[in-house]
Amino acid sequence: METLRKFERVCEIVDQNGRNEARLIPILQAIQVEYRYLPEEILTFVATSLGISPARVFGVATFYSLFTLKPKGKHVIRICNGTACHVKQSMDLYDIICTRLNLVAGQDTDPDMLFTVETVNCLGACGLAPAMVINEEVYGQLTPERALALIDDIIRKETGNEPDHYGA
Ligand code: FES
Repeated sequence: METLRKFERVCEIVDQNGRNEARLIPILQAIQVEYRYLPEEILTFVATSLGISPARVFGVATFYSLFTLKPKGKHVIRICNGTACHVKQSMDLYDIICTRLNLVAGQDTDPDMLFTVETVNCLGACGLAPAMVINEEVYGQLTPERALALIDDIIRKETGNEPDHYGA
């Protein structure tokens, strides 16, 4: 049933875009907004719906960095590791946030799918270094304490618990 609903929504998105191959990027964007990533089976379904090869759809989905084929958490935290932020110890923020969320090396999403933590090369807010984005909101001139307070607020709102043992 869940799967059926999933494909119904994709059908709607494809139809809203006139089943037009030239609209492949907006179609994929809309699907990603819906699911927070591009599931493989949906990419294959999109290819069939548009009458194009799956290779073409996967090619576009993997070419553009705005698309992701991996499931992400509900809250996506992007910590800037561009030069201006790096020299202001932005990777300390990254480490402290990963530790708070109990993410082990190589893991970017927690098992509850609440958080994904990523690094980016520049957020275009160098004057605010060190900076990070939580979902679409930019936070600048961060200290480790302030960054943690932002994450802790989300943990409290989402779980109703104190953040100290999140994911432990
Ligand atoms: S280097 Fe971090 S915002 Fe540009």
